[in-house]
Amino acid sequence: MSTVGTAVASVDEALPQMQELASRLWTRSARHHPGQLAWSARYGLDLGHGPVALFRVAGELVGWAWAEADDWLELCVDPAHPDVVDDAAGWFLDRAPAGPLRTMTLETETGVLAGLSRAGFEVEDQPWFTHHHLDLTALRDVPPVPGYTLRHVEPSEHEERAACHRAAWAAPGGTSRVSAAAYAGLMATPPYRHELDWVAVTAEGEMVASCLVWLDPGTGVALVEPVGCAPDHRGRGLAGAVSLAALHAARDAGASLGLVCPRGDDDHPVPGRVYRALGFEPGPRTLTLRFGSPTSGDLSAS
Ligand SMILES: CC(C)(COP(=O)(O)OP(=O)(O)OC[C@H]1O[C@@H](n2cnc3c(N)ncnc32)[C@H](O)[C@@H]1OP(=O)(O)O)[C@@H](O)C(=O)NCCC(=O)NCCS
Repeated sequence: MSTVGTAVASVDEALPQMQELASRLWTRSARHHPGQLAWSARYGLDLGHGPVALFRVAGELVGWAWAEADDWLELCVDPAHPDVVDDAAGWFLDRAPAGPLRTMTLETETGVLAGLSRAGFEVEDQPWFTHHHLDLTALRDVPPVPGYTLRHVEPSEHEERAACHRAAWAAPGGTSRVSAAAYAGLMATPPYRHELDWVAVTAEGEMVASCLVWLDPGTGVALVEPVGCAPDHRGRGLAGAVSLAALHAARDAGASLGLVCPRGDDDHPVPGRVYRALGFEPGPRTLTLRFGSPTSGDLSAS
């Protein structure tokens, strides 16, 4: 174990520091982006998030561990301080309940993988996400989609925007936690900018497809998260067009690279196809790791 100072805070308190470290450490080989953290922390009001441990060496933040759920760890550690992975995993395991625990890394985060292995985590056969990148100097034009208008949302439109998200993401009989109140909170969370939150609107004024882009000004990386299109309007090119429109706005605001992280396994192939059709190129994939035996009935047992 390294000599580190540890402070524990709620995710609401810690989010700006978590984002700052993610931004400082961002490369194409790193998992976390400040916008993804904002989305994960704020897409709902009832997400049951646990606390965050912040690890400092000589006063500098070099890692964090977030109990996103009691049984799910997110962690971010400066590769220059690989021992901090041990501290982060140890903190999480000390407070976790009995039963299988999980976390996710990018396959390229070798220091994190080694530390998790030392702590007893093992790679598990699970669905994965593939990070995709797009050089924004080569961004394609936005194609017109007859019958629809593309525009960014206004700050007052949290209710309509949340409904648009739910229409795309609530599976039949399912629910989405993206309420109007949650979206209002999201809109108040940096680095959210309403000029980078785009929708496709019908002639009647209904928002039916959307793409939210998060620009990290520190790196110039514009994360696309999430994209959706209401079932009755799919297959017309709306997801592609609204994503391109949002990425053009991000480039105008200073972004140089687009990033999107769709499922990479065969169970959900369409989103990846949508993004590759825009020019995104696949990069590293995520790995799920498990600590402890899967319980009986645990769908993750492989
Ligand atoms: C994925 C989703 C956003 C696609 O929306 P869409 O408006 O239908 O997508 P587009 O019409 O822009 O399609 C873009 C490309 O994907 C292809 N595509 C779209 N739906 C497809 C399907 N069901 N099967 C195969 N290909 C499909 C289109 O053919 C098109 O390719 P092309 O340009 O080479 O013709 C929509 O299905 C959705 O909201 N799903 C639920 C939420 C989700 O999974 N979001 C993405 C998470 S990263």
